[in-house]
Amino acid sequence: MSVKGHASAARGGVASRPALPDVAGRETIGMLTITPSGSVLGARVTGIDLSRPMNGADFATILRALGQYGVLCFPDQLLEPAALRDFSLRFGSIQTSLTGQFQDPEVPEVGILSNIVENGKPIGLADAGQDWHTDMSYRDTMGFVNVLNAHKVPRRDGKVLGSTVFANMHAAYDELDPALKKRLATATATHDFNKFWDMMVKRGTSGRKPLTPEQRAKRPPAVHPVFLTHPITGRKVLYCNPGYAVRINELDKAESDRVLEALFEHQLQPRFLHTHQWTERDLLIWDNIGTLHNAIPDYGPNEHRLMKRCQVMADKVFQPDFIRQALAA
Ligand code: SIN
Repeated sequence: MSVKGHASAARGGVASRPALPDVAGRETIGMLTITPSGSVLGARVTGIDLSRPMNGADFATILRALGQYGVLCFPDQLLEPAALRDFSLRFGSIQTSLTGQFQDPEVPEVGILSNIVENGKPIGLADAGQDWHTDMSYRDTMGFVNVLNAHKVPRRDGKVLGSTVFANMHAAYDELDPALKKRLATATATHDFNKFWDMMVKRGTSGRKPLTPEQRAKRPPAVHPVFLTHPITGRKVLYCNPGYAVRINELDKAESDRVLEALFEHQLQPRFLHTHQWTERDLLIWDNIGTLHNAIPDYGPNEHRLMKRCQVMADKVFQPDFIRQALAA
């Protein structure tokens, strides 16, 4: 997506609707109850069955909460692949896998993330997201929402393993050094899919092979502003991540490396982090524009984790008409 595209979407940004939360910050809107986690990100949403078609008012509430809290957990929702796809499609188009592997056989928009091996073959991508990144920043049309449904969650001695940690990029922008904010106000960064892939190949824990020239050609680097105006909140976010950002284009290479390191260190400070500890049947959605995430691989090959995933692109959310109509419902 071009810088121009982001700028016009920014004008369409919508501030949050006034609400009357209780003392815990809990709000009930229609049948939905939103309970904030109390940390820097995250809320739990109950009162809806996501396997059924969603009306416009519930979608508006969820979209607004997604902008505000970044990560929403809908407990006790285990969706069939087609229902997971249909729910995800409300937010935008779905990116399918580059390798064509580990997709639901009937619904290819649904990816399978798992360390389970059946008949000597892995049933899913075993190492997805295992370092800090935000999805699809390497594409011209960046990622918007990730939808992850927990089928199996590993545990050891009663302790839940395989958590996902998130970082809040609204807060990271707000607390960035004012001089650096000014210096990078109009800067852009190049994001490259191969950076994360290559790092995982070098780590050598998952058997990934280097991308073929054909695969690399299908994922050319993309350029985005370092600071974006979030299309839902209308606030600025720091849109840069260690997984894919390779260069600040307006700086020479050495200075770009130095500034990128400073941004990465800043954005991952503990005060910006929130950990989601999974329970089976959780359906989690998160906003890739306003957060980074990291899937923690602290479980062994016999401690099984199985997630079904849809990766939704930001092809609709930056359209002022889409966001205005969606939030007005
Ligand atoms: C991802 O990065 O999409 C996967 C996150 C996870 O498995 O927790």
